[in-house]
Formats: sequence, structure tokens, C-alpha cells
Amino acid sequence: MEAVAFQAADKSSRYRELLPQLASLFEGEPDLIANLANATAALRACLPVASWVGFYVVRGGELVLGPFQGNVACVRIAYGRGVCGTAAADRRTMIVPDVDKFPGHIACDAGSRSEIVVPVMKAGALVAVLDIDSYELAAFDDLDAAGLAPIAELLGTLAW
Ligand code: SME
Repeated sequence: MEAVAFQAADKSSRYRELLPQLASLFEGEPDLIANLANATAALRACLPVASWVGFYVVRGGELVLGPFQGNVACVRIAYGRGVCGTAAADRRTMIVPDVDKFPGHIACDAGSRSEIVVPVMKAGALVAVLDIDSYELAAFDDLDAAGLAPIAELLGTLAW
């Protein structure tokens, strides 16, 4: 197993480097949990600013914690609650530069300052959200949303 590696310093290029590495990690492996677990590790390696990278998976009308890297986290999140639940309910990417200013933010880790949450869709249905947190304020912006969009698309092709 080759380790993921990144040459570029700027994040847009790093996301572009990540995509084929993720595709090759997933290649020939049908197991969803294995692929999600490796995806969290690869994303964390790609994004040194991230304190937490993980999935909340749609299970029976709510979000349930899936594979992640970082501190222990809340297990169940209702649609419409917190950043993850809002991204899930609205099926849109949420960028929160300051979590203290987001009403209803769920503080799993008191050190978390900013966050991005990207829905993962398969055949038009929401299957999960990808949640990335940082201890830095405003760690994520439109460049992250743009870089993560094709990654979410690739994740949507997995065996949900
Ligand atoms: N902060 C998130 C909850 C998930 S944890 O940060 C891992 C939210 O408000 O949805």
C-alpha cells in the first residue's frame, strides 16, 4: 500500500492531487467502511489544518457517525441540527468560518473553531455528509468547497 503524498502547498492543487489517489485506493475494493476509513486518512493527510475529518452516514432518517480521524465525536445528529444536520437537510455544502456564530452548532470538540460540511449523494439521494473541522478560525472557504466537490462525487460512487 502506497502512502498518499502531496507535492503542492496550495490547497486547490492538493485537492487535485488527492482525487486520483483516492480513486486508486478505492479501485477494486468493494467494502464501504474500508474505503471511507482510508478516505478520512487521505483527507487528513491532504489538509494539515484539519483537526477532525469524518463521515456522518444516513441511517433511518438521521445521521450516524461513520469512519473518522480525530477525537471522539457525537454519534447521532438529526436532520436540521448543527452544521452537519443543516447540510444534510438542505443538501448543500456549508462553510462555517466561526462555529461560535453558527446558531445550533454542535460542539463535539470544544477546540473546534471552523468547519466545512459537504453532502455525499448517490443517484440523487443523500447517503452521508463529509465533515471537516479545524482548530483555526476560517480554515475553509470556496476553494475547499470547489476542491471537495469532485471528491464528494467520487465518494458517491462507493457501495452505499
Ligand atoms: N460540529 C458538528 C458536529 C459534528 S462534530 O464537529 C465532529 C455540527 O455542528 O454539525
